[in-house]
Formats: sequence, structure tokens, C-alpha cells
Amino acid sequence: MNTKPIIALDFPTPEDVATFLGKFDEPLFVKVGMELYLQNGPSIIRTIKEAGHDIFLDLKLHDIPNTVKSAMKGLAKLDIDLINVHAAGGRAMMAAALEGLQEGTQEGKKRPALIAVTQLTSTTEEQMNVEQQIPGTIQQGVVHYAKLAQQAGLDGVVCSVHEAKMIEEACGKDFLKVTPGIRLAGGATHDQKRVATPQVARIEGSTQIVVGRAITQAENPVEAYHTVKQLWEGN
Ligand code: C5P
Repeated sequence: MNTKPIIALDFPTPEDVATFLGKFDEPLFVKVGMELYLQNGPSIIRTIKEAGHDIFLDLKLHDIPNTVKSAMKGLAKLDIDLINVHAAGGRAMMAAALEGLQEGTQEGKKRPALIAVTQLTSTTEEQMNVEQQIPGTIQQGVVHYAKLAQQAGLDGVVCSVHEAKMIEEACGKDFLKVTPGIRLAGGATHDQKRVATPQVARIEGSTQIVVGRAITQAENPVEAYHTVKQLWEGN
């Protein structure tokens, strides 16, 4: 799996995406989320792919196993590189998602990697305990979901940098730990509660970092990207 910083393309229109990507003259790894995909559909994926970029399609699927399997089968045809589901959908749903991806991957192409969202970083421990009726700490809940995802055959999880080490201990180094909430030292934290720098992410065992506003809203996004990349790679 590509280890370049994944840039979150949190833009509403294809024009905004084109303007942003037009600033770069190198292949990138980008994340397309619900906002962009649900308004623009598969065509936005094809356009980004044709420009030579890798794609993390962040749709966080969560439904009955059969529905998720069928959806994944269709999405695999888009030739994306990484996709996700909610671990809360359960082991059978995660396994079905994987099957769908395998079935939908075209001959000669690599199956998209599949990761699970554990607990959203916006979920507090109180919400998890009281609303979801899951006892324990957030970290216990996250490690439990990571193990469940591994048992279902998934390639990794989305988690915060602060949970990456515990997941590495429970699931191993090769299990993907894709971590958002990345900021440059001294940068604005926006609405993220638990942020970390690219260097800390590397030390804590993140395998990929997802960076949005620290790059997309920088005065010079290309320069910001290269700063993040250098810090992440430790050069
Ligand atoms: O701008 P920022 O770097 O905060 O963007 C982070 C990206 O990662 C956003 O697209 C956000 O939706 C996503 N994300 C997150 N936390 C999660 C899962 C995804 O911030 N737990």
C-alpha cells in the first residue's frame, strides 16, 4: 500500500477538486469522502484515477451483509485503492464486504484494501457507554473492533494516532492504521479534538496519515504537502 500522506479532498464540486489537483505535478494519494462522492458519483473517481492518483474512497458503509457485499462489488469496479466500512456493522458484514470487493475486482487488478472505522473520533467515551451501551474505555472499544476487523480478514482500521500503538500491539505492524487528525506543529486544530503531527504519527505506528485542511487550506498547498511528506517520512 502506498504510504504517501493521503490528502482529504473535502471539496463540494469537481471544479474545486480540479483546481486543487492542478497545482500538483506528481501522483498523489487522495481521499474522496461522502460529500464529494454522493454529489458527483463514479465520474469523479474516474477523473481522479485518469490523472494518475491513488484513491481512498471514504464512504464508511454500514448495512446488512448482503447489501454491503453488493455495494462493494460495484465499487471495486471503480479501481479504487482503499475503502472502508464501520466495524459496528459486525464481523459477518465486514467479511461480506471483503467478499464483494474480491468478486468485483477486475482480472489483473489488485483488490482495493479494506479497512474498518472503529469508533469515530467525534464519539466521546460517555456517548459510547451511555448511548451505545458499550462499557469500558474508548481505547478498549477501539482495540476490540480492530481485532474483530482482523478476524474478518480486513487489512486494517481507521483510528486516531493515540490508538495506533495499542492496535499495533494487538494486531501487528502490517495491519493498516490509517490516521486522520494530523496537524503541523503550531497549526490550527479546527474541529479535531485529538491531533498529532506527522512525526508523532510515524513514531506511534501509523501506516498512513490522512491530512485535510493543513494542506487544502494552506496558503501554498504544494509546499504544505511537501512539508507534511518530509516530516512523515522522517527526512
Ligand atoms: O481537515 P482534516 O485534516 O481535519 O480532515 C480529516 C479528514 O479525515 C476529513 O475528511 C474527515 O472526515 C476524516 N476523518 C476524520 N476522523 C475520522 C475519520 C475520518 O477526521 N475518525
